[in-house]
Amino acid sequence: HDVVCVDIDHEKVRKINNGETPIYEDGLEGMLSQALQKNKLHATTDIDSIKETDFIFVAVGTPSKDNGSIDLKYIEAASADIANFIKSRTYCTVVVKSTVLPETTEKVVLPVLEKSGKKAGEDFGLCMNPEFLREGKALEDFFNPDRIVIGGIDAKSGDSLEKLYSDFKAPIMRTDLKTAEFIKYASNAFLATKITFINEIGNMCKNLGIDVYDVAEGMGLDKRIGKHFLHAGIGFGGSCFRKDVEALLAKSKEVKSVSKILSVVLDINKDQPLKIVHLLKKRLPDLEGKTIAVLGLAFKEGTDDIRDAPSIIIISELLKHNCKINSYDPKASNNMRKLYPDINYCGSVSDALSGSDACIILTGWDELKKLSDKDFNNMNNKIIIEGRKVLSKDLVTGFEGVCW
Ligand code: UGA
Repeated sequence: HDVVCVDIDHEKVRKINNGETPIYEDGLEGMLSQALQKNKLHATTDIDSIKETDFIFVAVGTPSKDNGSIDLKYIEAASADIANFIKSRTYCTVVVKSTVLPETTEKVVLPVLEKSGKKAGEDFGLCMNPEFLREGKALEDFFNPDRIVIGGIDAKSGDSLEKLYSDFKAPIMRTDLKTAEFIKYASNAFLATKITFINEIGNMCKNLGIDVYDVAEGMGLDKRIGKHFLHAGIGFGGSCFRKDVEALLAKSKEVKSVSKILSVVLDINKDQPLKIVHLLKKRLPDLEGKTIAVLGLAFKEGTDDIRDAPSIIIISELLKHNCKINSYDPKASNNMRKLYPDINYCGSVSDALSGSDACIILTGWDELKKLSDKDFNNMNNKIIIEGRKVLSKDLVTGFEGVCW
């Protein structure tokens, strides 16, 4: 396919055309430069420079408003630009990829598109095609999807998109627009709930002296439960789960079918990062002014993204105790520096650990999995608490986990 990326952000467009990826993911830069070399992809800020296209994917952000409800300003702005574009073009199919609540494509996107004077289902196609990619694993997930969900306003729209995906070996599910929208929210809400459930079990395990990972393994062998997303720790972060659960909760109130489970998920997840600080206080009752090594800042391994990362809440709590923070992250330090310019950003694990009174591990980077006892020799006290299951008992002695 020939792909043109359109964005209003000039810097992002410049970077993409230059072969620089605006976000970090292993393998992404290589794939981008291959596509650029083959002249198969370029970026522009000028949608009008595109002559004709078969598909337009809307992939703008859908952030939360202060009350948790979804902010559709970017969806509306992109839809208006697309309306202007399709006015003078032949039939193409508009595909909403952005995560939007049930009814948004039909009630918000469609009316704006029809301001072009063209009619959905006749003059242009309209689909909702949710994305299920994980950050840091987006390439792998894109090429090996578990399923492809296509919501279409009519059969022709859905058929054309199904054809576009014909090379993928994944079940394709055809639905109407709002069902496709809901599948995305229900999936993210379920995953967030699954993590929260195992975190609660983990908190109980901690008090019982049981390793929650053994419990999760035993549970996961049951096919009905499955082993994925049962990794207990300091809670889910990232730009999706909290935002989507909040938006779905707000929607549940709007349609007068209030979700109880979702508000509990959000409450538990808010407290979960602080568990590691409680454990730290048990080991270092006088936390005031201590030097703490923080290994891992990104909301998860494989990305430089810190949005909603548990590390943000934990660092803020440690700063309240006037702790000196020596942080290390292989990719996310520059992003965290914008939020906390005054903590130390070390170039290596060894620098972060040197002279520290305790160490907490907050992201499951592979690099940290290789640490062994000798790596912790330069600490003042060998207090190590991990918030993600990272260290190996065969290599490191005397550490504890937040739920294990
Ligand atoms: C999530 C979903 O997994 C994707 O399917 C979805 O497309 C995406 O949101 C989205 O809506 O855009 P993502 O947020 O990138 O993807 O990352 P996840 O791998 O789901 O992890 C989210 C958070 O949960 C991370 O902080 C991770 O450390 C945590 N997590 C994950 C756990 O604490 N335990 C687990 O077992 C799994």
